[in-house]
Amino acid sequence: VEELRSCARRSTNRKIEWVSLRKLLSELMSKSTRLDSKENESEHLPIYQHKAKLIQAVKDSTFLVVTGETGSGKTTQLPKYLHQAGKLSFYGKIGITQPRRVAAITVAQRVAQEMQCNLGREVGYQVRFDDCTSPSTVVKYMTDGCLLREILADPVLSQYSVVVLDEVHERTYKIDLFLVYLLQDILLGLLKKMFSNPAKTPKGRSIPLKVVVMSATLETDKLSAFLGGCPIFAIPGRAFPVTCTFGFAVGPKDIESTGYVVKVALDVHTSEMAGDILVFLTGQSEIERACDLLYEKAESIDYRYDVQDQTVEGLLILPLYGSMPTDQQRQIFQPPPSGIRKCVVATNIAATSLTINGIKYIIDSGFVKQLNHNSRVGMDILEVVPISKSEAQQRAGRAGRTSAGKCFRIYTKEFWEKSMPEYTVPEIQRTSLTAVILTLKCLGVHDVIRFPYLDCPEERFILEALKQLYQYDAIDRRGRVTKLGELMVEFPLHPGLTRAVLKAASLGCEDLLLPVAAMLSVENIFIRPGHPEKQKEADKKHRALAAKSGSMNDFATLLSVFQSCKSSDRPSAWCKDNWIHWRALKSAFSVETQLREILLRLQQKKDFPVDTFDGNKSELFRRCLCTGYFTNVARRSVGKVFCTMDGHGSMVHFHPSSSLFDQEDELNWVIFHDVLVTSRVYIRTVCPIRYEWVKDLLPKLHEVDVYELSGVAREEVTDEEMIKWETREAAKRQPEVSTEDVM
Ligand code: CDP
Ligand code: MG
Repeated sequence: VEELRSCARRSTNRKIEWVSLRKLLSELMSKSTRLDSKENESEHLPIYQHKAKLIQAVKDSTFLVVTGETGSGKTTQLPKYLHQAGKLSFYGKIGITQPRRVAAITVAQRVAQEMQCNLGREVGYQVRFDDCTSPSTVVKYMTDGCLLREILADPVLSQYSVVVLDEVHERTYKIDLFLVYLLQDILLGLLKKMFSNPAKTPKGRSIPLKVVVMSATLETDKLSAFLGGCPIFAIPGRAFPVTCTFGFAVGPKDIESTGYVVKVALDVHTSEMAGDILVFLTGQSEIERACDLLYEKAESIDYRYDVQDQTVEGLLILPLYGSMPTDQQRQIFQPPPSGIRKCVVATNIAATSLTINGIKYIIDSGFVKQLNHNSRVGMDILEVVPISKSEAQQRAGRAGRTSAGKCFRIYTKEFWEKSMPEYTVPEIQRTSLTAVILTLKCLGVHDVIRFPYLDCPEERFILEALKQLYQYDAIDRRGRVTKLGELMVEFPLHPGLTRAVLKAASLGCEDLLLPVAAMLSVENIFIRPGHPEKQKEADKKHRALAAKSGSMNDFATLLSVFQSCKSSDRPSAWCKDNWIHWRALKSAFSVETQLREILLRLQQKKDFPVDTFDGNKSELFRRCLCTGYFTNVARRSVGKVFCTMDGHGSMVHFHPSSSLFDQEDELNWVIFHDVLVTSRVYIRTVCPIRYEWVKDLLPKLHEVDVYELSGVAREEVTDEEMIKWETREAAKRQPEVSTEDVM
C-alpha cells in the first residue's frame, strides 16, 4: 500500500496523465480498506448514544418518526440495532426503503461490512433488475418501488416486523432516467390506510408491524400529524459552523458552461487547506463535462509552487450521479490516500441521501433539475431551476459534519435574495399525476380523490390524470384498470410512449419502438457546441444523420442513430465523429435492454395482445407512434405555424433541432414528443402523419367530461347509471375534426 501511495505521489508531481492516476488510486483505495475498523467507527456516530432508547421507542408505538442531521447514522445504524435487538423483540424481516438505487446498494454494502457478513446473506438489497437477497436475509434495503411491488403481492407485508421508510424529506425527488412515481407518497398513504385502527394488528397478520419514518430535520411535525400524532424521536446533531460566500453567476447559463464552477473548484484546491470538496451540479452531462475539464486543468498544477497547503499533493476527481455503475459508486465513500484531495462532483443526491466523510468545502451551483408540470402546454417538463434557500442550507451543512467548513455559492447575493424560494414545493403538487393514479388504481385504491396523500394535490390535477388514463385506455369509464392499464403500469415510461411500445409489441415490431423509447428517456444525445463554426459542423452532421434515416421523421432519426452506433465497430469514435453524446447513448443502450426485459416478461403472460398489420415499415412505425401520441397532434394553421389538437389549441413551431424545421412541403398533420417553452412554444422530435391514422383516436380527447369522471372517482357507479350515461354520451359524441385533411 505504501509503495502504491508513493508511486501515486510521484506521478502527481510529474503530471502523469490524470485518468490513469485515477485508476491507480482507486485500486489502491479498494486495497487499503480495512473491514474490521468499520464497527468501531460506527460507535462514534451521534445515533450510537441513543441506541437503547430508540429500540424501545420502536417497540412502543406503531408509527415512529425519526429525525436527525444527515450523517447521524439513521440509515446504516437503526436497522442494525433493530436486528441486534431482534431476537428478543422483532420476529420477521426488517425492510428499509430508499428513494434511490444507488443509496440502497451502497448502504447495504456498508452495513454488511459492519455486521461482518457477506452481502446478500443477513444483509441484502433489492432494486429493479438486481435482487441481492437470500432466504436468510433479515435486513433488506430496497427502493421504494420494490416495497410497493411487495405490497401489491402481499398487502399486509406478512414477512416483515419493521418497515422503515427512509429519506422521506426526499419527496422532492428528481428523475434520473425514468419518470417519477412519487412512491413515498403512495407508500405513506398505503401504510396509513393499513392501520385504520393503530392499536390493532392489521387483519391477516399474526405479528404486529412497526413503521418507522425517517427524515432529515424538515417536516417532522407534519409527518407525525399525518400518522395520527405519533411520537417523534430526534437525534441531537452536532454541526460545526460553515461560512458561506457568494460568487458572480446569475443563471443556468453560467452553470451549463461549467467553466465557472471548475474555476472555483480549482481555486479552492490551490488556495485552501487540506480537506475534500463536494460540488453540486444539475445532471449527469454537466457533471461529466465538469470532471473532464477539471482533469484537464488539474494537469497543469505544479504542486511545488501553486498550492497553498504543501501537504496537498494531488487531486482525485470523482463524479456521482444516480445512474452511475455500482463499482464506481463505491469509490466515493473511501478515504483518499494521504496527501490527495478528493473532489466529488455530484447531483443533489449528495445533499441528503448519501453522506461522504471528510468533506470540508462545498461548491454550490444553486440549481437543480426538476420535473414541473407546465399547464400552458399540459405536460411535465424537465427544467433547470434555482434551488430553495432551505435546500441551499442543507447543501452547505454537508461541509460542517466533522469540523468547521466553507461553502462557496457561485451565485450572487442578489440572486439568493430575489430568485431563490424559501422552500421546495413537494413534487406531488408540481407534476402530472398520471403514473401515481394508475399505480394506485392497480393497487386497488378506487377512490383516488380521498386517498390519504401527505401533500394533497389539487383535485383538478387528479381529474386531469384520470382523463389522460381514460384517453389511453388504461382505465375504463368507471375508473377501473383495464388489461392495457395493468401492462402499462409495469413500464417506467410516459403512458403515451408505453402505449406505443405495447402496440408495436403486439404487432411484433418492438425493435422499432424500444430503441426510440430508450433514446427519449435519456438526456439529449445531440451535442450542441458553443462555438459557431463547430455548431455549423455539428448541425451538418446531424442533418446527415436525419437524411440517412430515409424520412423526415425525428423518431426515425433516433432509431437510426441508435442502430448505427450499436452496429459500429468503435461506437465511441462513431459518436465523436457525428457529434453525439457517447455517454447518453450508452445509457440509452442500457435502458433499451431494461425495457426489453420488462416487455419479455409481459409477453410471457398468456393474454398479451396480438395484432396484425399490412403496410410498409415506415407507415407501421408511425402508426405505432400515433397510438401513443394522439394526444400530441398538431395541424398546420398558417404558414409554418401549427395548432395543437388537444383542446388547448396552442400555436406551436418546429424546434430548430427538428429535421422538419426547414421543410417546405405540404405537411398538414404531425405528432410530437415534447414541447419547449421559451418566447415561443416549440415542438421537438416531430413526425408527419396522416389524418386517418388518428381520426378515430382524436374524439377520445374531447369525449370525457371531467365532472363525469369525478363521479367515477368518488363512488362506485351502478350498471344502470352507467348505461344511461353511455347512451347520453353516444348521442352527444361528434368527432371534433371533420375536414378530411390528408397529408
Ligand atoms: O442516514 P444518515 O444520514 O443519518 O446517516 P448514514 O447514511 O447512516 O451515515 C452514517 C455514516 O456512515 C456516515 O459517516 C457515512 O459517511 C457512512 N457511510 C459510509 O461510509 N458508506 C456508505 N455506503 C454509507 C454511509
Ligand atoms: Mg440516511
